Amino acid sequence: MQLGILKEIDSEKRVAFLPEHINNLTQLGFDKISIESGAGSGVNVSDQQYQEAGATISDRSSILTGSDLVVGIHLPELASLGQDIVLVTQMNPLSNIETIKELKSKGSTVFSMDMVPRTTKAQAMDVLSSMATSAGYKAILSAAMQLPKFFPMFMTAAGTIAPAKVLILGAGVAGLQAISTARRLGAVVEAFDVRAAAKEEVMSLGAKFVEVEGAKDDTSAGGYAVEQTEAYKAKQAALIQEHAKKSDVIICTAQIPGRRAPLLVTEDTVKNMKPGAVVVDLAASTGGNCAFTEDDKTIVVHGVTIIGDSNLASTIPFDSSKMYGKNLINFFKELVNEEGVNFDFENEIIEHTCITYKGEIKSPRIKNIINQ
Ligand code: NAI
Repeated sequence: MQLGILKEIDSEKRVAFLPEHINNLTQLGFDKISIESGAGSGVNVSDQQYQEAGATISDRSSILTGSDLVVGIHLPELASLGQDIVLVTQMNPLSNIETIKELKSKGSTVFSMDMVPRTTKAQAMDVLSSMATSAGYKAILSAAMQLPKFFPMFMTAAGTIAPAKVLILGAGVAGLQAISTARRLGAVVEAFDVRAAAKEEVMSLGAKFVEVEGAKDDTSAGGYAVEQTEAYKAKQAALIQEHAKKSDVIICTAQIPGRRAPLLVTEDTVKNMKPGAVVVDLAASTGGNCAFTEDDKTIVVHGVTIIGDSNLASTIPFDSSKMYGKNLINFFKELVNEEGVNFDFENEIIEHTCITYKGEIKSPRIKNIINQ
């Protein structure tokens, strides 16, 4: 069984596997592992290091046409995908329905790691959690670099410096990691989330939970948030405005899969924030939680720096790749056996992750959207 590893576009520093993963892949039954030349350049790993680990260096078209299974982080150019390809990538399918239709008509087989179901068994395969860990951590470091103040409290001969106040909006994986990182740097942290379960997690990390009463029950949404009522949103907006005004840093992470990110930091809120304050918006690619956010741009509005970066995981490429590769290896334990790729659609991990299989849509969630 042959595995092919693609090089990503230049702006993406991560790679699907590091040399340290090659041995695990061999143990899973891959007898030839080819990697596109230069694939490790963003993580400072040379072709030679991959070779020493047991991989073969190859070119893109041989990998795309000659492998039983091809892996990457982003969906490669559609023109390069034939009907025999079996690709494992991360294609954000809920926001790319037109691309899925094209893949279907081409007959390509594509698995998308961001559709791994949120079950206990699949936790070790959850690339969204891994990348959110990197993003939450880096969001705080980016904010600290921009903020014209210290994060910790300092008692110096020149007087006492008050700690920075950090507000985290959305306390999922990225938000919780941002809380831990901000706390390690000594900031005073508060956080808000619509999911009731988040309160305990926020408090266990030493942050204060900003509470808005009357949220809709989300227990059947598989760990994700649900759209809230207009009355709830109005109460939420008023409370966030109040807390935002006092904050030095706001980290926005609130997202609802397949929908525009909720608007939490309005124009008016930004106008009323402290000059020099920083907003890092991790929801930038789905519209942002802040009214002024521009995807992939850092701007200053009313004296507030707004960083719209939705791919912060790529700025910690080595450890992000390390987690991504490990998630893939755990997924492959379900996907491959001694005979090759095992398309067992009775296995819910395989069924939910498979977007297209030889011209057929397999993911129940995508099927529902397309049939609507
Ligand atoms: P996400 O990236 O979809 O959203 C981030 C956070 O924003 C979530 O906590 C969400 O509740 C919150 N949010 C959405 N709308 C909001 C609003 N209007 N105001 C404030 N906050 C809002 O979610 P993420 O971080 O990927 O995961 C959410 C939860 O799912 C995790 O905390 C965890 O409990 C669970 N999970 C379970 C896994 C498993 O069992 N395999 C794997 C990963 C996560």
